[in-house]
Amino acid sequence: MGLYAQKILPYVLDWVMAGPEMAQYRKEILAGVSGEVLEIGFGTGLNLAYYPNSVKRITTVDVNPGMNSLALKRIRASAIAVDNRVLNSEHLPMADNSFDSVVSTWTLCSIANVEQALKEIYRVLKPDGQFFFVEHGLSDDPKIQVWQNRLTPIQKVITDGCHLNRNIRQLIENQFDAVRIEQFYADNFPKVVGYLYKGVATKN
Ligand SMILES: C[S@@+](CC[C@H](N)C(=O)[O-])C[C@H]1O[C@@H](n2cnc3c(N)ncnc32)[C@H](O)[C@@H]1O
Repeated sequence: MGLYAQKILPYVLDWVMAGPEMAQYRKEILAGVSGEVLEIGFGTGLNLAYYPNSVKRITTVDVNPGMNSLALKRIRASAIAVDNRVLNSEHLPMADNSFDSVVSTWTLCSIANVEQALKEIYRVLKPDGQFFFVEHGLSDDPKIQVWQNRLTPIQKVITDGCHLNRNIRQLIENQFDAVRIEQFYADNFPKVVGYLYKGVATKN
């Protein structure tokens, strides 16, 4: 991982992703989270403020140590105890059936082997455990898809691996049988980055 990804990108993402609209989606999806919680792609810790009060402790993983140093400030200021690890979510060291809830926000776009990460999420969830997500991805409009496919190679360079054109529904449904998803354009975002998938998948 290069200096840009570790030293500059975390500040850019922290600024871009802290807006009120994204905060609202964070709040909505995190409202259902309970029990033992794992968050993958913790980034700079922007979700921390939106966990329900009932959540006292979470485990977090992110592959980028540069994100982690910004996240530490939020962790220190939070009432939630955070077991914060620099790890690749494609290979989680946690035991099978460990968590009641796994959370991912705007992260499945960036994981190189996303299918493997979803296998790991499924594996570490307890039976009936739930995967909570808000992600951006492939639009349902073929005209937007054309641009998403064209721009993804550039986007990957600028944002350390983020794909604009992943079909998040398909990826999650390939791993989970019980999936509830809303798909819509976020207001105030260009359509190529603003097509969202928000929902919950349950491990049977
Ligand atoms: C766009 S940021 C989103 C950060 C945060 N989830 C949020 O909502 O603000 C994507 C995050 O996924 C992390 N990431 C990418 N690939 C990863 C992997 N294989 N394992 C863990 N984290 C990863 C990146 O380092 C980055 O922090």
